[in-house]
Amino acid sequence: MPVLAARDIVQRFGQQEVLHGVSLGVERGEVLGLLGPSGAGKTTLVNILAGVAEPVSGLVKAFGEPMPSLELMRRMGYMAQGDALYLDLTAAENLEFFGAIYGLTGPALKAAAATALQTARLSVEPRKQARDYSGGMRRRLSLATALLHEPELLILDEPTIGLDPLHRVEIWESFRKMAAAGRTLIVTTHVMDEAERCDRLALIRDGVFIAIGTPEDLKARAGASTLEDAFLHFARAEGGGHNA
Ligand SMILES: Nc1ncnc2c1ncn2[C@@H]1O[C@H](COP(=O)(O)OP(=O)(O)OP(=O)(O)O)[C@@H](O)[C@H]1O
Ligand SMILES: [Mg+2]
Repeated sequence: MPVLAARDIVQRFGQQEVLHGVSLGVERGEVLGLLGPSGAGKTTLVNILAGVAEPVSGLVKAFGEPMPSLELMRRMGYMAQGDALYLDLTAAENLEFFGAIYGLTGPALKAAAATALQTARLSVEPRKQARDYSGGMRRRLSLATALLHEPELLILDEPTIGLDPLHRVEIWESFRKMAAAGRTLIVTTHVMDEAERCDRLALIRDGVFIAIGTPEDLKARAGASTLEDAFLHFARAEGGGHNA
């Protein structure tokens, strides 16, 4: 049974249809990447997968049960593209706030926060408000809040945007370790070297999947040496509507 399965997801904003019937399934321990240009529909899709937005039509199941459901969402960690932080709180206060949502307080919260900050490669500054953090620091704090309750399923929308290469590599090592420990990740990205680290990639363009497969498989099918060229190959090819 997939950890997360979505079928025929259609989303519309006003007259504009931005997802045209997208289906995917993610297995336990898998890192699925959603790769596509700006405006392709990545954020629209992950918002639906995470249960924070409702599609016009289509079905999402998490852990075998229909979404949205608060109970299921407690087993997920969601990191939005725009950081969902309280800017006038410090990092520790933000972690405390998000911890409380998951019933984490006292020593349990302290231990969870330390682990999450370590994974997110962030050392907090005790008195600094989140608004005074750099963009990359805010990104890492957002990641730490998403990791706090050790969710089985992580849905991360451009988690490493704005981070320097070293942090990016370290955080991807953590993602791979989490997957090896049986956790499941869905990650959107623009960055090709990150896409290479995914078990499977769904290439998304104009609200449809134009190809799905392992990075190696996609390059081989496209006769390309880079994912960038593979993307261009599939983007030029007719058709679409592949299911992940
Ligand atoms: N709330 C909204 N109201 C109207 N249109 C929207 C809304 N959210 C997204 N869209 C439109 O839906 C399309 C897909 O946007 P989306 O944010 O999902 O793309 P994306 O792949 O995440 O892009 P990026 O890589 O820039 O984050 C775009 O045309 C966008 O303008
Ligand atoms: Mg986006």
